[in-house]
Amino acid sequence: MPFDPRWELDWSRPDYSRRLLREHLDQSHDGATRRTAVVDEQVRRLRRLLPEPPSRVLDAACGPGLYAVRLAAAGYDVTGVDVGPAALRHARSLARARAVRGRVRFQRGDLRTLEPPKRPYDAGIVIYYVLEAFPRAEQPRVLRRLARSLRPGGVLVVEMRLQPDQPPGRIAWWDVVPRSVLGDRRHLLIGDSTYVPHRRSFVLREIAVFDDGSVAAQQTSAWLCPFERIQPLFRRGGLAVTAMYDGWTRRRASALSESVLVIARREP
Ligand SMILES: C[S@@+](CC[C@H](N)C(=O)[O-])C[C@H]1O[C@@H](n2cnc3c(N)ncnc32)[C@H](O)[C@@H]1O
Repeated sequence: MPFDPRWELDWSRPDYSRRLLREHLDQSHDGATRRTAVVDEQVRRLRRLLPEPPSRVLDAACGPGLYAVRLAAAGYDVTGVDVGPAALRHARSLARARAVRGRVRFQRGDLRTLEPPKRPYDAGIVIYYVLEAFPRAEQPRVLRRLARSLRPGGVLVVEMRLQPDQPPGRIAWWDVVPRSVLGDRRHLLIGDSTYVPHRRSFVLREIAVFDDGSVAAQQTSAWLCPFERIQPLFRRGGLAVTAMYDGWTRRRASALSESVLVIARREP
């Protein structure tokens, strides 16, 4: 049984948040946040899916604010919420640098306890496989909180992964790395990722062993939703799915899609 909640990555921990930010901003891979050119393209797509500016948009789990700041630059009034302190610091400095501070604000908050705002948003986005990182039973509750943050009829755009990027079973590896999410100095990194198809669960575990013998570990899990269960999942969250695209393309999604962009509306 690979999943062990004791090791699940705590995104709110300042040291992890700082190291994760390094991964987010690394332009050599798309592993945490996408590279700048990809984000630019995705924001162009989002602008076609969201109501016209200056509508009010919630960027839920906004990370370093790459989408939020670009949407603000396009005239939207944006609020970014995230648990990661380093990500939020970066997001605020990006807003200063892009001179969009008046149109975007960043707040520390947990999607599991998100309270409805005084003035509901016209739209919300949840980008880069955030929803499936919550245990299955929690996913409709998180969606319900997001729905309650929107005005009736408000649009929610959620990017979800349907297939893991590995075949069923277990893959293990090791390497000596100069740094990783687990530490800032050279260490031995042992990795292990398991996809259990009948549970649709994916667990990546990493263990770092340092020169002084100390050890650190983290686990990142995903509880993937089968294609045919997406609509019922959103319905339980108080949202009606209006379209599903194959990733960021304009093609309709299918059960074979690796990821989907779900467009839903808050039910009245
Ligand atoms: C893969 S990153 C995606 C960030 C951003 N949406 C993007 O695409 O650039 C996942 C983000 O989710 C945030 N996160 C994880 N759990 C969260 C929670 N319970 N509430 C709010 N944010 C959370 C993390 O801090 C991290 O910034």
